[in-house]
Amino acid sequence: MNKKFPKDFLWGVATSSYQVEGGNSNSDWWEWEKAGKADNESGKACDYWNRYKEDHDFLQNLGVNLFRSSIEWARIEPEEGVFSEDVILHYRKIFKDLKKRNIKTQVTFWWWTSPLWFQEKYGWHKKESVEIFARYVEKVTKELGDLIDIFTTFNEPMVPLGQGYLGGVFPPGNKNPLKFFRAVSNVAEAHNVSYKIIHQIKPEAKVGITYLYNWYEAEGFGILLNSINRIAQWFRIDLLGDKIKNFQDYVGINYYRLGKIKFELKNLKINPREQKYFGFTIEEDKDNVMKWITYPKGIYLVLKEASKKFQLPIYITENGGPTREGLNDPERIAFIKNHLSFVHKAIQEGIDVRGYNFWSLVDNLEWLYGYEPRFGLVEINYKTLERTPRKSYFEYQKIIKNRGV
Ligand code: BGC
Repeated sequence: MNKKFPKDFLWGVATSSYQVEGGNSNSDWWEWEKAGKADNESGKACDYWNRYKEDHDFLQNLGVNLFRSSIEWARIEPEEGVFSEDVILHYRKIFKDLKKRNIKTQVTFWWWTSPLWFQEKYGWHKKESVEIFARYVEKVTKELGDLIDIFTTFNEPMVPLGQGYLGGVFPPGNKNPLKFFRAVSNVAEAHNVSYKIIHQIKPEAKVGITYLYNWYEAEGFGILLNSINRIAQWFRIDLLGDKIKNFQDYVGINYYRLGKIKFELKNLKINPREQKYFGFTIEEDKDNVMKWITYPKGIYLVLKEASKKFQLPIYITENGGPTREGLNDPERIAFIKNHLSFVHKAIQEGIDVRGYNFWSLVDNLEWLYGYEPRFGLVEINYKTLERTPRKSYFEYQKIIKNRGV
């Protein structure tokens, strides 16, 4: 059966600046990589900074009407309080090129990376971070806001805050719960202040945040583990979501996988790379390059939960799965179709889902895991930077053309 999506549904793909642009040498992540704390140095990444037109050709041929991307704070404000007009102009060119192709822009202001000066002198655990971020938001909204259709202040902030202040594996590399809770409050405050600033400059703007909204299930001894599942959601969603709930015009959901939680007394260490936290382990799928468990129904469950919690329009801001190199990717094709079927079911049941972004347009830097996991509809040859569409690219193209699966 053909499952048709609403006429005004937004079909998109997503990428993020640090993961594709290359050459972001003012950023804290650049330093992190140089110190050998990630599997690869990003280097030129996909060189989107220079090759954006080529990638926009792929977007246009795919038929999307939405592109989710981000801007690099470290590039725009390379020194504290000094904004680069050249860089802002370059982003204007990039967004104008999208507009020329009739593609709506969803732009994220902070996608896990900060200017090195910010990280060294402040960091999110310091109160000053709020006004420093707000100044950057004000500047870019004034300069680029006319070319932005959907504003996203932060991408999944709980992930880098957890990894950076509890796990110690992202900058600033702390394991300090006190700083962690302070950082969460400051990010919430920075979002709320930014929300107001953006609306002052562009009253009709749609402003929100994205959440990593995976589905959790707990195995084992009943009540205890069900409350653990609840705690996982509280930690990932409510802790921040409750502080910003009056400052969102929509909810952005990034859904990837099932987190099946097990408790093992023998394993009390914290090891984010092995997904072990104080005895709680997230089960792994050995066949998946990132050991993730694919679970299409989870997107439906998450949509129901998020719509009940926030009562706001929802955009699926990311959904995808990693594979290994190669152009033949039946698992990605099945992934897209199965997840979209469940999104369709949610819409049929009255959930207000406005758009879907597949992650990602092209293979890109997968943070700590470097270039091995492949998420793209388009394969990147990292030696030559040549781009080649995978089979899934053409399947997604068909889905968009038919408005459904
Ligand atoms: C992040 C991306 C990341 C993707 C795959 C999302 O949580 O927003 O930056 O590449 O997951 O891990």
